[in-house]
Amino acid sequence: MASIRVGLLGLGVVGGGTWKVLQKNAEEIARRAGRRIEVAAVAVRDVEKARRLLGDSDVRITTDGLEVARDPNIDIVVELIGGETIAKEWVMEAIRQGKHVVTANKALLACHGNEIFDAASSKGVMVMFEAAVAGGIPIIKAIREGLTANRIDWIAGIINGTTNFILSEMQSRGLPFNTVLAEAQRLGYAEADPTFDIEGVDAAHKLTLLASLAFGIPVQFDKACVEGISKLEAEDIQHAARLGYRIKLLGITRRRDDGIELRVHPTLIPMGCLLANVDGAMNAVLVHGDAVGPTLYYGQGAGEMPTASAVVADLVDVARLESADPEHRVPHLAFQPDAVKDIPILGA
Ligand code: NDP
Ligand code: HSE
Repeated sequence: MASIRVGLLGLGVVGGGTWKVLQKNAEEIARRAGRRIEVAAVAVRDVEKARRLLGDSDVRITTDGLEVARDPNIDIVVELIGGETIAKEWVMEAIRQGKHVVTANKALLACHGNEIFDAASSKGVMVMFEAAVAGGIPIIKAIREGLTANRIDWIAGIINGTTNFILSEMQSRGLPFNTVLAEAQRLGYAEADPTFDIEGVDAAHKLTLLASLAFGIPVQFDKACVEGISKLEAEDIQHAARLGYRIKLLGITRRRDDGIELRVHPTLIPMGCLLANVDGAMNAVLVHGDAVGPTLYYGQGAGEMPTASAVVADLVDVARLESADPEHRVPHLAFQPDAVKDIPILGA
């Protein structure tokens, strides 16, 4: 069976998980992709740490992601570093070199997505980002493919695992904010800079991508209204519970006559509602389409293996579609704003 060759940029929580899933389920993945997905090179900071994880495999290890992006033997570059600087440089170089890109980096796409997707479109390559929103839940595929017959009316959901974990643990075990945040970091849920999680920025990055897909608008993170959970105290959670509510950090985007709402903030949810009972690092996203009505997607929103599941799903899609005519595959699976640039965003 032929192979498709992958360069992994980053071998941390998500990169390490991706390597493990590709090894563990190699036979099934190859059957479904129609080709073996072979990791040819990884780029990391700590070469020895990477060597320990990769064992006796012959994967090339480097500290220079540009070298991976330029390697003519690599077909897909998987960016799992995070941040907007080196990650952007390496992703843009991979695209210039005509390689497909898979990324879990919502910050990168929410802030530079228009430029990245335009570059990919000009080169006829795919940029896939299932893992960037709601961890293991296939929400991008659901909106782009499953709900493609619909005009999406609104999306509302819990799309940050770290803050949901913090709120749930504060509520159920009475633990202090900082203790639970440290636990979320230990479990690999939090961003490298956890203020992105607790100030609602990570959720707003994800919401920006969902809104772009759902409404066919360019990514406009800078226009979102964002409030996190850092000002919440244990008493707020207890008061809410006494009144029959749970506090959840929600991302909400809605099509209105005068524009598109884009907002992230703590929200009181009646205890009987589904979203109120989503605990730990689980995410849940409600999507309302005009034909289908309300739909709900639930699953692990952060962490090693659930996020790797989404990364590998994108790899399989790229392997399947790679040989299709770019004219047909790119609009279908890469992000393509419908050039609706003048709808006002009702955020900040
Ligand atoms: P980690 O910090 O665990 O891993 C980052 C990896 O990138 C490490 O292997 C690190 O190398 C490597 N790296 C960082 N900087 C450089 C550099 N300058 N040169 C070479 N390698 C570098 O992050 P995560 O795996 O948690 O996150 C990766 C991405 O996935 C982020 O964009 C994040 O937002 C996103 N994401 C994370 C989720 C999660 O649950 N953790 C879920 C969904 C998305 P070394 O190991 O040597 O330090
Ligand atoms: N820090 C993110 C979260 C990782 O907690 O949801 C998943 O995107």
